[in-house]
Amino acid sequence: MKILAIESSCDETAAAIIEGEDSPQVLSNVVSTQIDIHKEFGGVVPEVAARAHIENIIPVIKKTLTEAKTELSDLDYITVTEGPGLVGSLVVGVETAKAISVSNNIPIVPVNHLEGHIYANFLEENKPEFPLIALLVSGGHTLLIFMKDHLDYQIIGSTRDDAAGEAFDKAAKILGLGYPGGPIISHEAEKGNENKYKFPTIDLTPQATRNPVGFLETPEESLDFSFSGLKTALITKVKQLTSDGNEITAEEKADLSASFQKAIIDNLSQNVLRAVKKYQPKTFILSGGVAANKNLRETLEKNIKEVSAETSYLIPPTNLCTDNAAMIGAAAFYHAKLKKIDDANFAANPNLKLNN
Ligand code: KG4
Ligand code: ZN
Repeated sequence: MKILAIESSCDETAAAIIEGEDSPQVLSNVVSTQIDIHKEFGGVVPEVAARAHIENIIPVIKKTLTEAKTELSDLDYITVTEGPGLVGSLVVGVETAKAISVSNNIPIVPVNHLEGHIYANFLEENKPEFPLIALLVSGGHTLLIFMKDHLDYQIIGSTRDDAAGEAFDKAAKILGLGYPGGPIISHEAEKGNENKYKFPTIDLTPQATRNPVGFLETPEESLDFSFSGLKTALITKVKQLTSDGNEITAEEKADLSASFQKAIIDNLSQNVLRAVKKYQPKTFILSGGVAANKNLRETLEKNIKEVSAETSYLIPPTNLCTDNAAMIGAAAFYHAKLKKIDDANFAANPNLKLNN
């Protein structure tokens, strides 16, 4: 089975060729990033992103076909990110894929961007085993997902406000460090002291209550996240440090970055450990752009080993954590293999849910 995959949900125009019979292999994986274009605005500008996708999409597809020495006539399927994402960006990928599909008579497989992030792990030699728990941490999502089998997603925890990647991006903006925030904050954090400033770990477990008979009822520990309070705490700290009229120093910036990064990791880790203890998965997988964070990768590995020695821990290589088309191809591979293709009247859907 040979698949052309297209991804254009945010600010990367990407195409890949995936091949395999029992499991998916990457033949080529091309990503054209727009980071330099959006940097000057301090974030992704949707209209600008859509125009850049229009310019890049055909050259990126041609490049991936050439690198994989593949002709359109060799393809069994074409797959594309249906959503979620920026509507103007998604439309470029979806309509290009539909045009190639119709004109070459190749069946099309719509894929959810979030399942793509999870399936990046199935491109590795060491395949995840079910049941598994995935922590998906990206610019737009923070989700804990329980999977009993392929393409079966149960969301067991999610953010009530900002996503983890968004928190990194906002923190970098507050500290005047640029965009995208995750890689910049983690680079800055290497020079700082993570114990210098204390930022909170948020526990959204409801308080215990007394039932009418008078017994104390203890609710289950919450697996939900909240990151907006961390952002406010950072703003308050910066205000305090600059109340004398001085700018924050380079040392303070590094310490704030390290302490803020630690807080995000502590918040993620608290709920990951709760979920692992409760569900006892065979595999834990980390995915999404924030999974590129070295400290997060290492801390979760160490902590999970301590609470569940039987759970194996998988993370894709960094280039498959951030947005790419190979991961979309990997998800499409399992849709095609298990004959779960829902392409009836599909269109770009900016609000697509994982378990639609
Ligand atoms: O998955 P992704 O490429 O795009 C979305 O689907 O959102 O994730 C992008 C997010 C951004 O918020 C970026 O700041 C964050 O991933 N990110 C990181 C790192 N690299 C990217 N966050 C923390 N540490 C990193 N090294
Ligand atoms: Zn993504």
